[in-house]
Amino acid sequence: MASALINGLISNGYPSTEILVSDPNEDAKNSLSEQHHIQCMSDNKSAVRIADLIILAVKPQILKEVASELSKVIQIQKVVVSIAAGVSISALQNWFGKNIPIVRSMPNTPTMLGLGATGMYANRHVTAEKCSLVERIFNTVGYSCWLDSEKDIDSVTAVSGSSPAYFFFIFEIMQRVAEDFGLSPRAAKNLILRTAKGSVEMALNSDSEVSELRRQVTSPKGTTEQAIASLQSGNLDQLIHQAMKAALKRAQELSEEYGQ
Ligand SMILES: NC(=O)c1ccc[n+]([C@@H]2O[C@H](COP(=O)([O-])OP(=O)(O)OC[C@H]3O[C@@H](n4cnc5c(N)ncnc54)[C@H](OP(=O)(O)O)[C@@H]3O)[C@@H](O)[C@H]2O)c1
Repeated sequence: MASALINGLISNGYPSTEILVSDPNEDAKNSLSEQHHIQCMSDNKSAVRIADLIILAVKPQILKEVASELSKVIQIQKVVVSIAAGVSISALQNWFGKNIPIVRSMPNTPTMLGLGATGMYANRHVTAEKCSLVERIFNTVGYSCWLDSEKDIDSVTAVSGSSPAYFFFIFEIMQRVAEDFGLSPRAAKNLILRTAKGSVEMALNSDSEVSELRRQVTSPKGTTEQAIASLQSGNLDQLIHQAMKAALKRAQELSEEYGQ
């Protein structure tokens, strides 16, 4: 995810000289440095001493260890942004042992193309100026929004954090069906992905709701109407509801697992 963020930032004009990465793994550090021409370090504490804004992008299960290590050098003038699923601000606050300005965020992988979507929640120590700094990062790599409550982060995990995979899964199924119809894998893939891209662009550029756009392409007694009726009789909306609720439940379980 850190790589996706760095890719998205650099390819969308964020100055590479303002990015510093810390990774204790020498190979990972060297490859990041070569790939993006950014400054890389292997000592988290030294990196944190230099940086104004710190993005924590390690796995949730090692965040306690990393935050406890950083507690020795972190200062309240900095702002910490965590992208870790399930780790609460109060857990981070406890590990840091200070009233650090902390933003909890949930980006997704299209961030690497500057097409990400991120939900963010800030604790009360984050000033308006620091909020702008964080927004600058996530707006460079796509869309971002502030959330009213920290628990909304779990919803964002189910809605946009995990959803690139939902779409890939649907494309995968459609591609297999298109191939069963006799289309070449190449044609099937391109027709489906280009249609998905075009549909998203249409929806983003239209004043109409997506339900209205759907109605507009569903003419009575036409082919689309048959497909939609079949999806409805198979209870697609219930299935999607169930899937997103399962992701939400898992995000909530992770929150309990990694500490409140
Ligand atoms: N993947 C997603 O779509 C997504 C979306 C939103 C949020 N997130 C969150 O993003 C975070 C990272 O997920 P990921 O999938 O990118 O995990 P990942 O691929 O394992 O990346 C974590 C990176 O942190 C490095 N690392 C390990 N220990 C470290 C330490 N002590 N100090 C500094 N760096 C260290 C790892 O190096 P090694 O490989 O050498 O261990 C690795 O490069 C997670 O908390 C996840 O919840 C992920």
